[in-house]
Amino acid sequence: MTLSCEAFAKVNRSLTVLGRRADGYHELDTLFQTIGLSDVLELREADVLELTCDDATLPAVEENLVVRAARALAENARIPPRASIRLVKRIPAGAGLGGGSADAAATLLGLRALWGLPLDVAALGKIAARLGSDVPFFLAGGLARGTGRGERIAPLPDPPVEWLVLLSPPFALSTPAVYARLAQMREASLTAVAPASNLPGSDLGPFPDRNDLEPAAESLRQEVRFLRELLLGAGAVSARLSGSGSTVFGIFTSEEAAHGAARGLPGLPAGTAVRVVPTLPRADFLRRATPRPVEDR
Ligand code: C5P
Repeated sequence: MTLSCEAFAKVNRSLTVLGRRADGYHELDTLFQTIGLSDVLELREADVLELTCDDATLPAVEENLVVRAARALAENARIPPRASIRLVKRIPAGAGLGGGSADAAATLLGLRALWGLPLDVAALGKIAARLGSDVPFFLAGGLARGTGRGERIAPLPDPPVEWLVLLSPPFALSTPAVYARLAQMREASLTAVAPASNLPGSDLGPFPDRNDLEPAAESLRQEVRFLRELLLGAGAVSARLSGSGSTVFGIFTSEEAAHGAARGLPGLPAGTAVRVVPTLPRADFLRRATPRPVEDR
């Protein structure tokens, strides 16, 4: 039997970085939102654990996260990690879109089904949190508030679908490097520590339009600021860095407005990938992230 599922990307609709913790991580208050951009995973039984990818340049982080997720799940279930996993990579890596984390969560969901494990989402969530701060979100999808390292997830009701223009420059940004730069800048008082956040719990209301990692990312790569300005100039109601970058996304009032803006971005730096995607509501996420049998090739 071969199972297939989609691993969706996210943007951080807002991201407040509070203090640095004793364990070196930063305390976050963030809103994750899944978007209509996905990798595809195909999983089938095998004698060993193997991963193949259509993209020969499969980033080491992505590969590690899929393999680590498979091993962690097998260890938890006390079974040998036997599966052949094929990954069709469409989410750019090192882009702040959670590609590696999404793949890891999809691996947990896919192998739970393939191996017939009686684990609920809470049990998967514990394994997910050990794999990376963003991984638990990708078990829930839709819009969700993340606190702690970002691993404590509270799902929120879906807001109306929005259309985004994603600009992914031809360079990755390293998450540890961006957080380290932020810590450095805060120590030198170049940028303020965010005040305690007042993000609402269950009703969305007005939430902060901010990403506190932007000054750090922009200090590492000034192109990031240019891309945000480009989107604002093209009529975006907001333009933000996603996560620790390098992708920036602009929010538009309609699909037409997003496509129109994407077609006419003056001075777009060479090598920048442009994508127009809708936000992905939870029900659509859950349907398409659920592993389903496909014809064996
Ligand atoms: O949890 P994850 O492995 O994705 O985190 C990667 C790195 O990002 C951490 O090692 C840390 O440097 C930084 N980070 C942080 N605070 C967070 C999440 C990540 O400082 N809440």
